[in-house]
Amino acid sequence: MGWSSWNQFGDQINEQLLVQTMDAMAANGLRDAGYVYINLDDGWQRHKGARQDHPLEVDPVKFPHGLRWLADYAHGHGFKLGIYSGPGQTTCAGYTGSEGHEAEDAKQFAAWGVDHLKYDSCCSHKDAPKTEVQAIVKKMSLALRASGRPIVYHACHCGWADIWQWAADAGANHWRIGQDISDDFDYPGHREKYYFDVLDMLDRGITLGQHAGPGHWNDFDMLVVGLNGKSQELVGAGASNVEYRTHFSLWALAASPLLIGADVRALDAYTLETLSNKEVIALNQDPLGQPAEKVRDDGTLQVYAKGLANGSVAVALLNRGSATAEMTVSPGKDLGEAWKHYRVRDLWRHAELGEFDIPFTAEVISHEARLLLLSPVTGHATTTDTTDNTPAPK
Ligand code: GLA
Repeated sequence: MGWSSWNQFGDQINEQLLVQTMDAMAANGLRDAGYVYINLDDGWQRHKGARQDHPLEVDPVKFPHGLRWLADYAHGHGFKLGIYSGPGQTTCAGYTGSEGHEAEDAKQFAAWGVDHLKYDSCCSHKDAPKTEVQAIVKKMSLALRASGRPIVYHACHCGWADIWQWAADAGANHWRIGQDISDDFDYPGHREKYYFDVLDMLDRGITLGQHAGPGHWNDFDMLVVGLNGKSQELVGAGASNVEYRTHFSLWALAASPLLIGADVRALDAYTLETLSNKEVIALNQDPLGQPAEKVRDDGTLQVYAKGLANGSVAVALLNRGSATAEMTVSPGKDLGEAWKHYRVRDLWRHAELGEFDIPFTAEVISHEARLLLLSPVTGHATTTDTTDNTPAPK
C-alpha cells in the first residue's frame, strides 16, 4: 500500500511534491491506514535517451537534495521510498533505462536506501518469447538480491508472456496484469485502443487469482480514485464517487496492491473516506492473502467473494447495469459454506445488518458494489427478514 506519482503527475515530479505528499499523508491519516510506500515513477532521472558515459543520476533540478536525502526523509517519517526504471535503453517516458547496467543500478538504488522498484518494459515484449521476458525479469531480480537491501520488486510487463505463471519464481513481488489503467469506470472499448478502464482490469485480473498469494500479487494498476478526470497524465473522463468506491472495493478484494494515484494534498472528504476505510483495507491486507473470485455472473449483476483468515467471507455485490437492482447472495450456493446461521456486516455503511438463515438480499444502485462481510454464527436467534433498510450511499 502506498502512493505513486504517475497517475496524477506523470513525469512532473520533484522533491517538494514528494515531501508535501508525505506530510499530507502523515497528517490526513493515510500513512497510518497503511499507505507507506511512496513510489517515484518515471521522470526522476536526470537524462533522457540511452545511457552515455554516466551512471543513472537523479535530476538535480527536480530533486536538489538527492535521493538518499529523500529516502532518509521517508524513513524518518514512517514511509518507504520506491523508484522506477526499466529493462530497455530508455524508459517509457524516454528517460535512461537500466539495460546492461542492472547490477550497477540495483547497487545504486540500495545505496540511496530505496525500498521498492517498479521495473517497466513499457509493453515492449508483447510478441517476445516467454524465455526472453523471464530472463529480463530475473536479471534485475538477482541484481536486487545481490545489492543486499530488501527491495520489493514490481515486474511491470503489461501482463504479457503469462507473467503471472512464473514471475513469483523469478523473484517478483507483484506484476501488472494488463495495460495502463485509464480514469474511467466503464469506457466502451479501450480508450486509444490501449487503456483498460476499471471494469476491463477487473475482468482480466479476477481470473488470475490462483497465481497470487502472500509475497506475490497480481497488480491491477494504480488507483484512479479521486482523479476526477483531472490528471495531468492519464486519459479518461473520471468516474463518480460511487464508481470510485466500487473500484477501491474490488481492488481490495482482488488483493491487488493499493497505490493511491491522486494528489493527496487536495483530497475531498468523500475520497479520503473511501481510501481510508479500515474495514475495506483489512480485507486487502488479510493474512490469508486469498484473492477474490467471481462466484456468480448474471450478466450485469455479479458476485465476488474473498475468503478470510478468520473463516468469514467478504462479498461484493456488483451492479454493472444502469438501473438499481436487487441482488442476493447465498452462503451455501454461492460461497460453498455449510453455515446454518450467518451474520452480515456492511463495510461501507459500517453497520451490522443482522443474522440470517436464508439467502441475503440487498438493493444495489447502478455501478455500486455493496461490500459485505458474512460470518458464521452459532447459537443465536435468527432473523428471516432479509429486507435491507440501510440507506443508499451519497
Ligand atoms: C508505463 C506504465 C505506467 C507508467 C509509465 C511511465 O506506461 O505502464 O504505469 O509507469 O510507463 O512512463
